[in-house]
Amino acid sequence: MLRLGVNIDHVATIRNARGASYPEPVRAAELALAAGADGITAHLREDRRHIGDADVALLNDLCLRRGKPLNFEMAVTDEMVGIAVGARPHAACLVPERREEVTTEGGLDVVRGQSRIADATARLRAAGARVSLFIEADPAQIRASAEAGAQVVELHTGAYCDAARAGEVERAAAILERLQAGAALAASLGLEVHAGHGIDYATVKPVAAIPQIAELNIGHFLIGEAIFVGLPQAILRMRTLMDAARLDHAL
Ligand code: PXP
Repeated sequence: MLRLGVNIDHVATIRNARGASYPEPVRAAELALAAGADGITAHLREDRRHIGDADVALLNDLCLRRGKPLNFEMAVTDEMVGIAVGARPHAACLVPERREEVTTEGGLDVVRGQSRIADATARLRAAGARVSLFIEADPAQIRASAEAGAQVVELHTGAYCDAARAGEVERAAAILERLQAGAALAASLGLEVHAGHGIDYATVKPVAAIPQIAELNIGHFLIGEAIFVGLPQAILRMRTLMDAARLDHAL
């Protein structure tokens, strides 16, 4: 079954807007797991704009207690690799990070940064983490990810979701084709394939229907939707759409 990782970063964004102690990301993670999330994703950014170091410890404890994976998103820096090696999460996802960006824009350039990324990957794997690289569905990036020693690639779905939401049908279809081809190539190289960024109820089905994809990581939309319907309800609906996409594809 296609797994759903719920990214709880934006619960911390709301908490931090008031400098308060609530809402607590770990409480959202607990609810998400109870509602059927297969794992929790959290991105400790260098500027700590959403989750902080204390959240990582709480989330890691929770996931260990529940026997569910914590996917620790992080920039390829010595500081972050050190934190991840100390926390020993189930998984680490290396992402590009620029301080001035609003969210993770584009994928990691594994072709240009291969030795640095291979080194971080080796250190994280030695600490027991399954390492994924967040990349565009570009054949050169996929091949470089396999060569860098990653076990997983997470394909960036942001451009597809933006085009689909803007009603740019042809552009969305072309990007979806690249995601499909990228997933097939990655799987043929022995990589596990994940996908994420920008996914909502309207865009989840075509992505979930790509047969090689084992996991989707979804955050901003679910946390936003939770304001209106509650987090469990939002997760249940997303799960239903994901499962329906897989079933339709199998028929
Ligand atoms: N996957 C990765 C690697 C990300 O960086 C993010 C955003 O933090 C997501 C998935 C989730 O994206 P969104 O919040 O747009 O659902």
